[in-house]
Amino acid sequence: MADGRLKVCICGGGNGAHALAGLAAAHAQFESRVLTLYQDEASRWRKMMADDGFVISIKKPEGGNDQIRVRPFHVTADASEAVPVADVIIIVVPAFTHHQYLTAIKPHVKRGAVIIGLPGQPGFELQCLSVLQEKAGHCTILSYESLPWATRIAEFGKKVRHLGTKDALLGSIVKGDTTLSFDPVATLQSLLGGKPQLRLASNFLETNLMTKAYVHPVMMHAKYKDWHGEPLTERPLFYQGLTKEGASELVAISDEVMATAHAISRIRPDVKLENVEHLEPWIIRSYNHTIKDPTSLHMAMATNSAYDGLLDPMIEIAPGRWMPDFNHRYLQEDVPFGLAVLKGIAELAGVSTPVSDRVLKWCQQQMGLDLIVGSQLKGKDIYLTRSPQAFGYLTLNELLAEL
Ligand code: NAI
Repeated sequence: MADGRLKVCICGGGNGAHALAGLAAAHAQFESRVLTLYQDEASRWRKMMADDGFVISIKKPEGGNDQIRVRPFHVTADASEAVPVADVIIIVVPAFTHHQYLTAIKPHVKRGAVIIGLPGQPGFELQCLSVLQEKAGHCTILSYESLPWATRIAEFGKKVRHLGTKDALLGSIVKGDTTLSFDPVATLQSLLGGKPQLRLASNFLETNLMTKAYVHPVMMHAKYKDWHGEPLTERPLFYQGLTKEGASELVAISDEVMATAHAISRIRPDVKLENVEHLEPWIIRSYNHTIKDPTSLHMAMATNSAYDGLLDPMIEIAPGRWMPDFNHRYLQEDVPFGLAVLKGIAELAGVSTPVSDRVLKWCQQQMGLDLIVGSQLKGKDIYLTRSPQAFGYLTLNELLAEL
């Protein structure tokens, strides 16, 4: 912070990284750099930005868009160029790449750095502790439940669209042994602007249980469990195409998560989990300006304009012939870093989860994994998940000792 500006390293090269990099570059109080390790993204991004800079297009609730143009910023594939100076490292990538980013930053991360998972997704803290080892103790680790916006790249390296911004976002903090000269939550809030309003949970178990990462696997299950392999002639609307039955399954899994939180609170009343909230009020609160009909979870999803145009993940195998894409992050990310983590925590809390088990069994079949056997998370591939069991936590007390 020699020049008074906080140094921010944004990890990633996708939609969220584009959105955050643009916002950071628009602030005079930050010096931002982007670290992207994927393929040739760093050089492509630099090239695309070189002439005209970078544009953030923000959808206004009343219609139309605000356009913010910012000057080019530093983008690199080399962690040693972006991490050693960074006061704040924000990881904005699908969770299946977190291990790669944590491994890359580990040799360079400075004492007292703040590491933020935006979103962290369930198990983020356990993975930070596992990968960073003793370095984790000198860092502050923050993890947020979701991305602040629904956002999509409009033109790689040049333009990103904010389709809708959440009103509030819950995070958790694991403090290291260093005293910070800045408030990490206030810093992130000033980077994001007034919305979403950042709130802090009591502990990371609360944000893990607050995750909505199960939504995609459950919706994929609801849509394709009876699909027999024939190509579709069009791509259905994803969220807005949710059926009543799919919405009921979402409610049932959210019930199981609530049961897990209640069981832990009964066993250990000192562990605060009051913020764990059912999916239905969460969706309605988070998208309060873009939902037309908030009378049920089904209608809230079907009438949310922030989801306009979002289609089922599919692959076009021939013109106009579509197959569902089970390699999409809706399963590849949200099963090992979502549903499986929730299942693992429920198991440690002694809560039975028949609906989660049914969905997990279907998902593992599509993904070629062995995670759940009977009703237990003990398949040979659980090490690929971020369930507590994958990191060797085999009792609730062992897990709670990390809070
Ligand atoms: P994305 O799908 O745009 O991420 C793609 C990027 O991830 C790539 O550009 C690359 O940088 C990296 N990547 C992909 N495969 C990789 C690999 N094999 N190795 C290394 N890097 C790889 O993701 P997005 O949209 O930025 O989302 C980030 C997180 O936020 C995800 O967890 C997502 O579920 C969550 N989220 C996203 C929302 C959105 O509207 N974009 C809304 C709510 C949550």
